[in-house]
Amino acid sequence: MNRTAKIFVYGFALLVAASLAFGAWIQWQSHRRLKRVYAITVAPVPVPVGAEAVARGKHLAMTRGCVDCHGANLAGLTVIDDGAMGRIDGPNLTRGAGGLPADYSDDDYIRAIRHGVNREGRGLFLMPSTDYATLSDADMGALIAYLRSVPAVDKPRGPVAPGPVAKALLATGRLRLAAQEIEHARIKPSQVAPAANAEYGRYVAASCTGCHGPNLSGGKIAAGPPTLPPAANLTPHPDGRLAQWTEADFVRALRTQRRPDGSEISPVMPKAFGGLDDLELKALWAYLRTLPPKPLGKR
Ligand code: HEC
Ligand code: HEC
Repeated sequence: MNRTAKIFVYGFALLVAASLAFGAWIQWQSHRRLKRVYAITVAPVPVPVGAEAVARGKHLAMTRGCVDCHGANLAGLTVIDDGAMGRIDGPNLTRGAGGLPADYSDDDYIRAIRHGVNREGRGLFLMPSTDYATLSDADMGALIAYLRSVPAVDKPRGPVAPGPVAKALLATGRLRLAAQEIEHARIKPSQVAPAANAEYGRYVAASCTGCHGPNLSGGKIAAGPPTLPPAANLTPHPDGRLAQWTEADFVRALRTQRRPDGSEISPVMPKAFGGLDDLELKALWAYLRTLPPKPLGKR
């Protein structure tokens, strides 16, 4: 072999070795993050009985995303299915075959919803418990009351199998499980009372920050594939539209998925928020008005 050929062959071998090592590192790191066991002390919550609590729980499940990933009947749904991110199914949450076991306790629900951790202590993939960690005890209780009331559906549990890109994102820390993010020993359930004010609006807006960012200035959706449109700037900054909107414009936009100029809001913005009640929408609007104006995506 002449010198150039040698350099080429050795260089190529080195490259192959490096990418194999990198691949192995990704497997190892992502495996470690997915299998890590979290020791959680669950603070119990009183679970109310009665139609009113069940109705409130159902409203929460419909408007806070549960049905988008677990299905309208909560029997499970394929949320992601592609070569890069893998195949991820929201599990069957009913008591039918393939659903939650008969002895699934209130603490098990709280561990999953508030902490993003399953019974065995493993961090749940994709389940956005960062949004739910501060649910008030009243709302957590109502949610459990509702989840216990749904009819049993027999449907086998689908896979939670992150693909190569999801694993690389996990390994490099660009995708983090809710269980990694949440400070488990320091969760303070919200004490806020429902009212048409900014304080309650901030509580409801916990469902918006996952996409619109912690300060709601919008921009690239952290957990989403690059094909998603950026989330809109919800602060009253000239970069966004909301400085020009009225409360009625905002309520109509969420209910109809249309802006005041008639243009359609991308379906990436979940339709389910149209189900928020008047009080929640008024409170949200009051809260959005209090935000400091920030340029798009400026976190
Ligand atoms: C973005 C999708 C998504 C949303 C929204 C979501 N979940 Fe999940 N949830 C999942 C996935 C996926 C899993 C399983 C993850 C795993 O096993 O690693 C899961 C797991 C769970 C579990 C644990 C089941 C078990 O076997 O331990 C419960 C309980 C649960 N979710 C309830 C809820 C409730 C209640 C809501 C709404 C307040 C909700 N989820 C919203 C995707 C979601
Ligand atoms: C799953 C991601 C996601 C969540 C969660 C989400 N949004 Fe959005 N939202 C988007 C995206 C993406 C857009 C931009 C859509 C477009 O460009 O057409 C958007 C647009 C909007 C708009 C239109 C603003 C404009 O300037 O066009 C409003 C208002 C809005 N969101 C409010 C909310 C509120 C309030 C919440 C919480 C209750 C919320 N969103 C939760 C993704 C999300």
